[in-house]
Amino acid sequence: MARIHFFSDLHVDHAGGDIGVQPVDCDLAVFGGDLCNGLHKHLPDLLEKFRGVPLVVTEGNHDAYREGPANDRAYTLQDVRDRTGEICARYGAYYNPDGYVVIDGVQVITACLWSDFSIRPGYMSPKEAMYISQKGFHPEQPVSPAGRTPHNDYQAIHTAPGKRLTPSDTLAMHKASVEAIDLALDAEPDMLKVLATHFPPDDGVASDGTHSWLYGSRDCGHIIERADIWLHGHVHVSRDAEVGGTRIISNPRGYRQRDGRFENPAFDPSLVIDVEPKPRNDFGMK
Ligand SMILES: [Fe+2]
Ligand SMILES: [Fe+2]
Repeated sequence: MARIHFFSDLHVDHAGGDIGVQPVDCDLAVFGGDLCNGLHKHLPDLLEKFRGVPLVVTEGNHDAYREGPANDRAYTLQDVRDRTGEICARYGAYYNPDGYVVIDGVQVITACLWSDFSIRPGYMSPKEAMYISQKGFHPEQPVSPAGRTPHNDYQAIHTAPGKRLTPSDTLAMHKASVEAIDLALDAEPDMLKVLATHFPPDDGVASDGTHSWLYGSRDCGHIIERADIWLHGHVHVSRDAEVGGTRIISNPRGYRQRDGRFENPAFDPSLVIDVEPKPRNDFGMK
């Protein structure tokens, strides 16, 4: 059994730098991504607070967003990963995108995960959904530049100087994450398996609307059922569901709103989850 402190989507750049969480009594803590636009900017603030606590850091999409003064805008997705690795190593925190860490016999498998574009209206092809997310309009229904609504992931994240992230990139990263998780789940057969991704692994929290297909996937059933628990962020609503026999939990804070309150009124900064191994069948499988 492990007692895990879990929280995500602190978006501290929307909260005047307010981290908003404190260490609590637990075996380990997991941060589910979206600390701020440019993870390296506030990551030391979070890790300073959690000094001495085993903390696993998962990357979110916002963590690679570029913004701020021109001289601070030059970083790419890989730059953010490199800086995050350096900062976590300095503080003794755990960070292994598309990999796993072992803490006292608990295997924590982490990935941003992204999405597979499968949660889209039935009349829409994957290519159309990808085009709309990248360009902000349907290819056969062009609108004026002012009316375009591309998803920010494809505007604010760069994979190389001058090269923006594309839907093909995120789909490829999603598939790589699913493969990495599949392998990791077989790597430590006797350990408690905690999945920590930023994006949800299922379609349980996707809602209607443009870009809604970026809020989950439908190709993760074979890995969901092998986890003992799955923690995720990205959607700014709390969740405690069961999918494929596995408990799936989200506990995001979300953006601070004009009235000073945070987007998710159910956010619990002290949420600790007791995780126990799921029962296995006669073949030793979950
Ligand atoms: Fe978020
Ligand atoms: Fe996110």
